[in-house]
Amino acid sequence: MISEFRDEHFAGVEALWEEAFPNDAPWNKASVAIPEKMRFQPGLMLVALEGPLVVGSVMAGYEGHRGWISRIAVLRAHRHKRIGQALLLEAEERLAALGCLKINLQVVASNAAVVRFYEGAGYQVEPRVSMSKRISQSRPAVGPKSASPDA
Ligand SMILES: CC(C)(COP(=O)(O)OP(=O)(O)OC[C@H]1O[C@@H](n2cnc3c(N)ncnc32)[C@H](O)[C@@H]1OP(=O)(O)O)[C@@H](O)C(=O)NCCC(=O)NCCS
Repeated sequence: MISEFRDEHFAGVEALWEEAFPNDAPWNKASVAIPEKMRFQPGLMLVALEGPLVVGSVMAGYEGHRGWISRIAVLRAHRHKRIGQALLLEAEERLAALGCLKINLQVVASNAAVVRFYEGAGYQVEPRVSMSKRISQSRPAVGPKSASPDA
């Protein structure tokens, strides 16, 4: 069964991610990433359940232009039962319901074998260079310019 993440799933997702992403960067840990995700489109954080056990999870997001899928994982003992594909499909349907027309995702070079999993769901490798920038939390938030007093 696929369902939206709830607090009671936290320990299961944390254990799943520790197994699936053993070399995770500190900022990707469940204790950091899940509370952040709960602030933005929490309905796009999904878990696959077998009874009370979290056997899989996926995180998705839509920023008004592209949908993104990340952190898909299935417990090793439960792999190759199409749970990953079911999670992907549910995330896609929820993104489509928001008006999303195209989904992007990234695969780290050391995990290239997983490309086959995504290709099986209709994804294509695109010639892109992936770039990123970490933004310091100490930086002041940028908002609309306040009107000058004499404007
Ligand atoms: C990727 C992952 C979520 C797939 O979950 P799953 O439930 O086993 O996937 P499915 O059963 O839906 O797989 C369907 C098909 O995709 C392909 N596939 C699945 N996992 C694969 C992998 N790791 N490498 C290559 N192909 C894979 C296979 O063709 C599979 O069919 P098969 O079972 O008949 O061989 C799981 O392997 C996982 O948690 N991996 C570790 C975390 C990870 O790397 N996540 C992706 C980050 S980009």
